[in-house]
Amino acid sequence: MVTRSERRDAISSQFQSLVKNRPTPDGTDDGDAILELDDFSVFYGDFPAVHRLRLGMPRRQITAIIGPSGCGKSTLLNAINRMTDLIPGARVSGRMRLNGEEVYGNRMDVIWLRRRIGMVFQKPNPFPKSIYDNVAYGPRLHGKRDRDELDTIVERTLKESALWEEVQTRLHANAMSLSGGQQQRLCIARALAIEPQMVLLDEPTSSLDPQSTARIEALLEELRGHYTVIIVTHNMQQAARVSDYTLFLYEGEQIEFARNTQLFLNPQQEQTEEYIAGRFG
Ligand SMILES: Nc1ncnc2c1ncn2[C@@H]1O[C@H](COP(=O)(O)OP(=O)(O)O)[C@@H](O)[C@H]1O
Ligand SMILES: [Mg+2]
Repeated sequence: MVTRSERRDAISSQFQSLVKNRPTPDGTDDGDAILELDDFSVFYGDFPAVHRLRLGMPRRQITAIIGPSGCGKSTLLNAINRMTDLIPGARVSGRMRLNGEEVYGNRMDVIWLRRRIGMVFQKPNPFPKSIYDNVAYGPRLHGKRDRDELDTIVERTLKESALWEEVQTRLHANAMSLSGGQQQRLCIARALAIEPQMVLLDEPTSSLDPQSTARIEALLEELRGHYTVIIVTHNMQQAARVSDYTLFLYEGEQIEFARNTQLFLNPQQEQTEEYIAGRFG
């Protein structure tokens, strides 16, 4: 019979080497939340896919959302840029504030909101256009036409997304000719090109090999401090490694939201402990 304290020691030693206790980025302090949820729920018909969430996601840090399949991770992510509006039968209740502004308030300009939030999905989905045109797509949509300015944006964002070295000599090659891992970094570049306030990633490495995954994780580390990043992952080791804070959802309920030093090393909820110990889900 394994006692609870033995189990806790085993978890703690498993995650000890993964969790980093990084200082808050310059110009932010503890408790500086860019996104605040207050009693926030999303329903599909009568079914609460996420239920009464209450938390603040830290500015320019990385927050991971973990939990078993179907627990509401993607639902929450999609609610942040109001992709939820496009799903028939979906509705929200409670409050979500971005920089103090009500995301679901009458005064929110949804087009503006979506332009401020970059999104990256599980399967890399570059446009079947050149590498250059993929990155320039968002800025062009926002009316940028000046060639030099676009060149600068493309170079800057490809550098930020650690792809420049590999593609600088073939910017006009089709994006579909890149490897899966490169395509995903290109999708991150495309998201960064609009200078987003926030980047949302939904299981961005689950279709990638370990080496490409490691490159994406290293890239996220570089983005930390500059952008607010929210990453959904079903991989707990990845969450422990890359993020500063983690939200654990189970059947739509917020079981625990805490700094990784707490959530992985000293979880306050027994369900968190069991989940990160791999006992279910
Ligand atoms: N468009 C939809 N209509 C009805 N139910 C949905 C819809 N999308 C997701 N769901 C349900 O909501 C729950 C949460 O789904 P999802 O957010 O995709 O979970 P996760 O990303 O954690 O796997 C699941 O039970 C799923 O079946
Ligand atoms: Mg999902």
